[in-house]
Amino acid sequence: MSCTLFDSLQLMSKKEYKISVLSGDGIGPEVMAEALRVIDKISTRSDVEFVLDHQLVGGIAIDETSSPLPDETLRSCENSDAILFGSVGGPKWESLPPDSQPERGALLPLRKHFGLFANLRPSICFPSLTNASPIRPDLVEGGFDVLCVRELTGGIYFGEPKEIKEQGGEKVAIDTMVYKESEIERIAAVAFDAAMGRNKHVTSIDKANVLRNGILWRDTVEKVASKYPEVNLEHLYVDNAAMQLIRRPREFDVVLAPNLFGDILSDEMAMIAGSLGMLASSSLGESLGDGLYFGMYEPSGGSAPDIAGQGIANPCAQILSASLMLRYSLGLIESADAIDLAIRKTIDAGYRTGDIFTGEEGTQRVNTTQMGDAILSHL
Ligand code: IPM
Ligand code: MG
Repeated sequence: MSCTLFDSLQLMSKKEYKISVLSGDGIGPEVMAEALRVIDKISTRSDVEFVLDHQLVGGIAIDETSSPLPDETLRSCENSDAILFGSVGGPKWESLPPDSQPERGALLPLRKHFGLFANLRPSICFPSLTNASPIRPDLVEGGFDVLCVRELTGGIYFGEPKEIKEQGGEKVAIDTMVYKESEIERIAAVAFDAAMGRNKHVTSIDKANVLRNGILWRDTVEKVASKYPEVNLEHLYVDNAAMQLIRRPREFDVVLAPNLFGDILSDEMAMIAGSLGMLASSSLGESLGDGLYFGMYEPSGGSAPDIAGQGIANPCAQILSASLMLRYSLGLIESADAIDLAIRKTIDAGYRTGDIFTGEEGTQRVNTTQMGDAILSHL
């Protein structure tokens, strides 16, 4: 194909975004391939160009460089506008020492290095997918849309001391839960800001009946809430929240949680919504202004080694993660909306990967690339 002067001029004027693509292990590369086809289509149709820098992370990086997060990968991320992450981990690396394992050795350092303190995990149950939810149909009828805002760089994940030591002739394990007021304030502000653009309801999660951390969390969230008089604030103990999310998922809007509780509840919320294969997630740092953040975008589902290599994984979560990246790190709101709509239309048209296939009339079971094809055709 020859390139006309017009083509080259157009190419020259395209705005460039640099993206570090870390596909990782398991189904990561398979679903990433579909997400990249989608953003490629966005780029051919608009005046933006995505410059992709593929780098190793996780198990595959251990195999090739002996580190789950090679320096080169970190440098690439530092020089990019956003990180598009697949998934890491698998049985092959499970017997390595904890800090060398793909999950702990790559994900946690990436979060900490880039100060990605705000983990936004939308849990959306499409009205046409309520059948895939394990919850009683009358409780999810019409679907729901809950946003989990999880604190990601503090709490018991990172508090010191953190060790296993000998004491009194036996081993003792210590993890420390620490939260500074400022850490609670900034994550609460993210939740309240998000709620202002949604249904103006925040449910804050703690264990204030047992933990000192819970008391400070609750007080600080109250203080932040006073700056958002329009937003309705509810506090729930984490154990009660685990129940209420199953009993009345449609009544939640934004769920604000410390690191560990958010980890647990976001998996529960993903399951209630139908499938982990549908859920995207974004981990954001401090605001860069104009509604933009540096961030890392990844599906919530993980590497799913049980189905890796078979080409049957659901690519929706990875594609929705790419959409979040366009929205929060690149400011390409219209393109992000277009991707979200294409996914919704594809689901409404009956396309289902195995994880969301229930045999319902009017639906058909498809593999990863067929799902990608369908989404591209609706874009
Ligand atoms: C998640 C994961 C990680 C976490 C693990 C893999 C370290 O469960 O992103 O939810 O606990 O944060
Ligand atoms: Mg988790």
